[in-house]
Amino acid sequence: MDNVKVLVTGGTGYIGSHTVVELQNAGFEVIIVDNLSNSTIESIARIEHITGIKPHFENIDCVDYVAMDDMFSKYEGIKAIIHFAASKAVGESVEKPIMYYRNNVNGLMNILDLMPIHGIRNIVFSSSCTVYGQPDVLPVTEDAPIKPATSPYGNTKQICEEIIRDVIHSGAEMNSILLRYFNPIGAHPSAEIGELPVGIPSNLVPFITQTAIGLREKLSVFGDDYNTSDGSCIRDYINVVDLAKAHVLAVKRMLENKQDVALECFNIGTGKGTSVLELISAFKKVTGVDLPYQIVGRRSGDIEQVWADSTKANSVLGWKAESTIEETLLSAWRWEQKLRASLIEK
Ligand code: UD1
Repeated sequence: MDNVKVLVTGGTGYIGSHTVVELQNAGFEVIIVDNLSNSTIESIARIEHITGIKPHFENIDCVDYVAMDDMFSKYEGIKAIIHFAASKAVGESVEKPIMYYRNNVNGLMNILDLMPIHGIRNIVFSSSCTVYGQPDVLPVTEDAPIKPATSPYGNTKQICEEIIRDVIHSGAEMNSILLRYFNPIGAHPSAEIGELPVGIPSNLVPFITQTAIGLREKLSVFGDDYNTSDGSCIRDYINVVDLAKAHVLAVKRMLENKQDVALECFNIGTGKGTSVLELISAFKKVTGVDLPYQIVGRRSGDIEQVWADSTKANSVLGWKAESTIEETLLSAWRWEQKLRASLIEK
């Protein structure tokens, strides 16, 4: 796929930057569009440091139709889009629903509107296992029913999936792959790129690494009275590099016209559930660092347990989660250590 142009919206962010690295390693020419609302421009230099290639970068908000139109004209010949750019904090979405609907839904609609104008047929959409809510059957397959969303953020993922479905059903010459991520964690093995939460992290692994390094006093485990083996919630934690590779396979599948239908959907998870307490003890074991924690009450809106059946991604997409949870936690820890050391230097 040498020099085939791929647009990555949100390409300086956590999953986006890892995906840009894998795309460039596979020979694609990457154009990043990002408004830097939840990432920094430093990502570009870090991507270049890892791959030796500087991706094109445009500081644009996908909600800005005219700027997006101009960008597509400037980089004529884009063959596929991976659309990550979106707001993703569940709690914030409850407080600022309009901001979430505007960013996440309008951004996608602009892109879908502009694709045929610029002759682009292929789009990978960043979705989430949040669409399944608490599944009735575990592991959850792509055929499981979509449950009512419990937050505006979750609702935007469902709405965006439906918009893509409706556009394709309308007869538009468009192919799409929806990737439903489980819980992405970890960092690139170089520790050049990783998750960079703004303020107090709401996700588990950044909170763990920040506690381990001494930035937070202790971790709160949200509930130990769930109906699970140790009482804490269970998730499917997927390595971010493995997840990034799923995007490269999805783009190739569309470009090589291998899709069975114009709209396909894949679960991207390991197929294995890990409880919060298991994750904490795995982190302590691989890093040797003590992690102070306390059990507190349940977090409102949390799902008790969910993990993926990723058979479809394994057999159809040819994708497989390769890293162990230990390797992944170690990568998150190395990233946190390198990040703090670099901040102290500054
Ligand atoms: C959350 C979102 C999900 C979104 C994903 C993005 C909710 C309900 N869901 O997933 O829609 O796609 O982030 O990454 O917010 N935990 C603690 N202590 C902490 C933080 C988390 O015990 O300080 C527990 C949670 O209760 C949960 C697990 O760790 O059981 C994972 O939490 P988190 O990393 O926030 O991810 P999700 O809630 O699964």
